[in-house]
Amino acid sequence: MAAFPVPTKKKANGMHPALSEIINDISEYDTVFLGYPNWWYSCPMAIFSFIDANDLSDKNIYLFCSHGTGGLAGSVQDITAALPESTVISDNVFHVFQDDTANAKEDLQEWLNNIIQ
Ligand SMILES: Cc1cc2nc3c(=O)[nH]c(=O)nc-3n(C[C@H](O)[C@H](O)[C@H](O)COP(=O)(O)O)c2cc1C
Repeated sequence: MAAFPVPTKKKANGMHPALSEIINDISEYDTVFLGYPNWWYSCPMAIFSFIDANDLSDKNIYLFCSHGTGGLAGSVQDITAALPESTVISDNVFHVFQDDTANAKEDLQEWLNNIIQ
């Protein structure tokens, strides 16, 4: 029995869905925080749509993720593989178990403080 809902056609077919919001000019940013839930041992396909839609070359990327018992699973590797080679992806990934998200503010703040210092 599958631990999570059966993957959608988007996942099964590798489809990158249209995003409901777009960023006007990503070139204004050096650092991008990319957050997602773990879906099907990876990230939702919309993350790949975001990567398609924005030139993230030379950006610093910080990932944050909520998840079930699967943890980060393959998400970091899958996102890294989809990003340009010149993108710098921090291995300091914030991740939190789904039941702990409501109480994660302090940990999240500490993570941000370490990054911003
Ligand atoms: C379609 C779907 C697939 C999921 N797949 C996984 C998974 O493979 N591994 C895992 O640990 N959690 C999985 N989850 C649990 C989500 O990671 C969890 O519900 C989410 O992090 C909670 O954040 P949210 O309330 O913002 O959605 C899945 C949830 C959904 C809805």
